[in-house]
Amino acid sequence: MLTAAPVAVGVAVAALVIGVPRWLPGRVVALRGWVFTRVNGDESIPVPGDLIGVDRFREVYSHPAASGRSRGAALSDLFWYWLSPGPEMHQEHLEAGERYDAVALVTRRILSVPRARAEELTRRCVARALRDSRGVVRLRDLMMPAWAEFSYELVFGEPCPPYARDLIVGNADDVVTALKCCGLRHMDRRDRLTAYLTQSLPRVRHELPAGLTAREQALYLQGAFFNTAVVQMSEAVAHVLMALARHPDVQARARDGDDRYLDQVIAETLRLYPLFGIAHRVTTGDIPLGEGATIPAGSVLCFDYPAFHRAGFPDPERFDPGRFAPGRAPIRKLNHIPFGMPANRPCPASRLAPLAMRVAVRETLRACRLDSTASHTRSLPNRGPCLLTPLGVARHGPGQRLTLLFMRVRDDWEGLWRSLVQLVLGTYMVWDARRSRLCERHFSGGAGSAGS
Ligand code: HEM
Repeated sequence: MLTAAPVAVGVAVAALVIGVPRWLPGRVVALRGWVFTRVNGDESIPVPGDLIGVDRFREVYSHPAASGRSRGAALSDLFWYWLSPGPEMHQEHLEAGERYDAVALVTRRILSVPRARAEELTRRCVARALRDSRGVVRLRDLMMPAWAEFSYELVFGEPCPPYARDLIVGNADDVVTALKCCGLRHMDRRDRLTAYLTQSLPRVRHELPAGLTAREQALYLQGAFFNTAVVQMSEAVAHVLMALARHPDVQARARDGDDRYLDQVIAETLRLYPLFGIAHRVTTGDIPLGEGATIPAGSVLCFDYPAFHRAGFPDPERFDPGRFAPGRAPIRKLNHIPFGMPANRPCPASRLAPLAMRVAVRETLRACRLDSTASHTRSLPNRGPCLLTPLGVARHGPGQRLTLLFMRVRDDWEGLWRSLVQLVLGTYMVWDARRSRLCERHFSGGAGSAGS
């Protein structure tokens, strides 16, 4: 017969084991942050932070001296490593100057698609991605082929062949997986796309930036359109769908309501889950703060989007599209800058992205009901597990309830394993990036092309 003590110990051990997925990932994330800082150096000024408060976030971000993008920040070595090949041609990381202006102009032209055409293109690409998608999916994976085809058609002006779509998805998925430290880089996947784009340049429907070699032009397109555009749109739509899957009341209202409510849902999703965690700038001159304080030239400022987006909102962790309802404070007055600061290199897709997102979400809501019991965090490392049920199927039978229960348990344990993987791979990549010094070598003339 069992005595009370062993039973109590058994219960305690079981509770500890079952609870592990709840407490350990958080500890591992904290440890990862600590290791990153040790390896990468603690060189930056967080904004908002002790020196610059939330009230001066916009002012400092908009300051003309907050303009350096890459040169002089150890952090840049890490971003260049993740965005290779060709980070020196990636618009986000180009320093101001003639080359940047030429590239930014072409991006603006490619993105200046008439609204009706952008909506029709989105509808077509997303409908194809949804065609046979039922059951449990990962929303980011579901969306990525759609945005690969979308970007391809913007650049080449013709439908995307499956071969090219697979190359683009292979590239974008590899970049975002490495960025989140969920996997190492696979340069072969990325190089295959560069080779394809280089040979396809004559078919591009737009005039490309002058003064660049063919490889540089291909790398520019790869960075802006087949990496950033595909990753950002896939993640943005996955976040909105995930939020709807976890808030059935909001989902029902979004399905039946008009686009104004959908816009509120999108705004609130991008507030709570901004795609940029940190955007950094290297100061090219002193920034006076008043009362004798100055941010000296050469400082690295890290603008923290999640912290800014939470400040000034009551109960900021709650998902509440009503914050953006008509009659509330105008959006420009809120701490809400999902597409960056207008005065300092904002996102060139800030007009196109929201309208394409709206159509993508609407198409998905028309096709199916979404349910998820998986965790929803800003970096979305689980890629958004979600149950898609065709509309018209009766609500939650026992099979669906079991699926959702299994999804939750699986997500917990996957999260535990993933946090350990992220710790190990992240530490390795931070170390490898510091060792490779792609950005530093580029600016010191030590590397012709920061290839890999
Ligand atoms: C919902 C989707 C998107 C969001 C939330 C988003 C967000 C942002 C943000 C916050 C920045 C500024 C970061 C900084 O200050 O350093 C940015 C820059 C940029 N984004 Fe987006 N983006 C999205 C979609 C896209 C798409 C579709 C493209 C297509 C090409 C794109 C291309 C770029 C580029 C090239 C930059 C760098 C701008 C420059 O430095 O001149 N983004 N994005």
